[in-house]
Amino acid sequence: FRAIGSRRVLVHGDGPLAGTVRDEVARACARFGGSLCDGGEADLVLATSDHLPAHARAVLYGEEAGETGAAPGGDEAFPTGRRDRMTGTPDGDENFLVGRRGGVTVVAGEGAGLLYGLFHVVRLGERAFGADFPAERHRPAMRRRMLDHWDNVDVHPVMGQVERGYAGGSIFWADGGPRGDLDRVRAYGRLLAAAGVNAVAVNNVNVHATEARLLTDRLGDVAALAGALRPYGIRVHLSVTFAAPVVLGGLSTADPLDEDVRAWWAGATARVYEAIPDFGGYLVKADSEGQPGPFAYGRSHADGANLLAGALAPYGGVVHWRAFVYDHRQDWRDRSTDRARAAYDHFAPLDGEFAGNAILQVKHGPIDFQVREPVSPVIAAMPRTRLAVELQVTQEYTGQQRHVCYLAPMWREVLGFEPWGPGGRTVAGVAGELVAVSNAGDDPYWTGHPLAQANLYAFGRLAWDPGLGPAEILDEWIGLTFPDTADRLREPLHAIMNGSWETYERYTAPLGVGFMVRPGHHYGPDVDGYEYTPWGTYHFADRDGVGVDRTRATGTGCTGQYPEPWSEVYESAERCPDELLLFFHHVPYGHVLHSGKTVIQHIYDTHFAGAEEVAELRPVWDGLVGLVDPALHARVRELLDEQLRSAREWRDQINTYFFRKSGVPDAHGRRIH
Ligand code: GCU
Repeated sequence: FRAIGSRRVLVHGDGPLAGTVRDEVARACARFGGSLCDGGEADLVLATSDHLPAHARAVLYGEEAGETGAAPGGDEAFPTGRRDRMTGTPDGDENFLVGRRGGVTVVAGEGAGLLYGLFHVVRLGERAFGADFPAERHRPAMRRRMLDHWDNVDVHPVMGQVERGYAGGSIFWADGGPRGDLDRVRAYGRLLAAAGVNAVAVNNVNVHATEARLLTDRLGDVAALAGALRPYGIRVHLSVTFAAPVVLGGLSTADPLDEDVRAWWAGATARVYEAIPDFGGYLVKADSEGQPGPFAYGRSHADGANLLAGALAPYGGVVHWRAFVYDHRQDWRDRSTDRARAAYDHFAPLDGEFAGNAILQVKHGPIDFQVREPVSPVIAAMPRTRLAVELQVTQEYTGQQRHVCYLAPMWREVLGFEPWGPGGRTVAGVAGELVAVSNAGDDPYWTGHPLAQANLYAFGRLAWDPGLGPAEILDEWIGLTFPDTADRLREPLHAIMNGSWETYERYTAPLGVGFMVRPGHHYGPDVDGYEYTPWGTYHFADRDGVGVDRTRATGTGCTGQYPEPWSEVYESAERCPDELLLFFHHVPYGHVLHSGKTVIQHIYDTHFAGAEEVAELRPVWDGLVGLVDPALHARVRELLDEQLRSAREWRDQINTYFFRKSGVPDAHGRRIH
């Protein structure tokens, strides 16, 4: 904020979000010696279009547009030479224009756009106030950019306060009630707005007894959170249990086609909107890992989703209905059941049956947030359904915020994937929204591992603009997080973080096979940990080979869920990309990859290399003493030591396991235990 706070700034606009912008600027000016002015010459003007001063209009629209220059909502109004970077179907109220001629001007149709315009200038910093630049229009690619908190109100006996949380307790809840620190919630809202996030689900998708009541007698707690987040343009959503009419309403059924059930949801939802007029909607995990759902009544998931969509529709709310439905009690001996197929098998036949305000929320891969998976086939299979793609910012399977693992490169690959082949639409183009499981908690650095903050930031930025490059986003984050030393931190932090996802992949489960983690907590290696369990996550390694046969020819047929060309590419062990080979094929250890290596030698080489890459991080980090806060430095140093210990354990368990299974020695004679 220094660049803004040291200048003369004019803020013009009505409403609470314009008020937030004014407060932000006032705070920055108090800190850095600038001033919030009422008129006259300003270095920066932030205004809604109905308040745009004439001289600022000239900055934005120049001679070409003359007097016709208008709000950023309308397409015609933009001057030639604009840098219109976005595509998609955004909410117009988040758009803004920014340009500089002498002074910098940001204009937006609404307060939300003004807020995003402010954070845009914050990101630019001094660069905003350098050379003149023509007006650029900015608008989000995704209309909703949402974080799901898997936070419990009561501490769960197994999962704790935050399920899969690695950053301390919840920002929202503690020990059975609200955490009560609304300043912290506001600060979180500010952090999220700076990254572009505009929706938050405040409780776990696994809805336990106390959490179910957030919908009814504990609604006031949700309203308090909504009040704290509203000034930052963030709407609150609630995870609800499908069984709510029974467990809260005392009805004998939750059947989605039952009239009393409909009436119950209508009444409950009316009360929600009385308390929270801008409430976002419901999030539902149904018939999934033990959560109740419409199957109990012989109804479809479209029936279930449409029940809640109907209750929300009068108020403009939406239901996010998760597609994470599979048999978590399968028999490992049954080779015909394939968890990777499940979401498609359940949902693709329902395309076209979902209400207009029902959004099917699909995990980006077919299984469960592994370090490497193909894109979910559901994404290409439901052209008549609104889709949200779900990512996992919390690092359940990617090092649990003890390992550095910058995930933007993975997400960029997912969003840029072309389900219909090169030149076709991308995942980002198909999905109307992006959702992620949050990695933030009450930890002083928000995310446990201080460098994991970059993942939170990158999620919001990619949801705003999926075309941004991971390194570019990391650069922004470094600039915002370490404003005084960014120039000296850039190179070393890029060295540590840019390739960290691929490094993590190298020392963990190989070639897309996934799930070689310790059952339960999912940290650290345990190659056979899930092999004989009901969870449907197997690698089928034996003395001859490894991998899951998901072909149509001889396997589960999962490859047939993809459109051309991928159905053919994945079907063929020769054409399948190396990194997904063991996801789709069971191959002998001697199978030769495109890289020219055999599968077994690839396993050895990547595991030695991955652990070595981690060993190189510590000296780079040690060189940053004095450039970051000492406590932060110490925290990361400790975590890097744990990452190295863990990476070596992964290396040794995986290599030893496959050496013992295959009997094939390492071509380079390195130590395998
Ligand atoms: C994973 C995770 C669970 C979570 C589930 C979900 O399986 O381990 O903790 O509940 O995903 O996405 O619902």
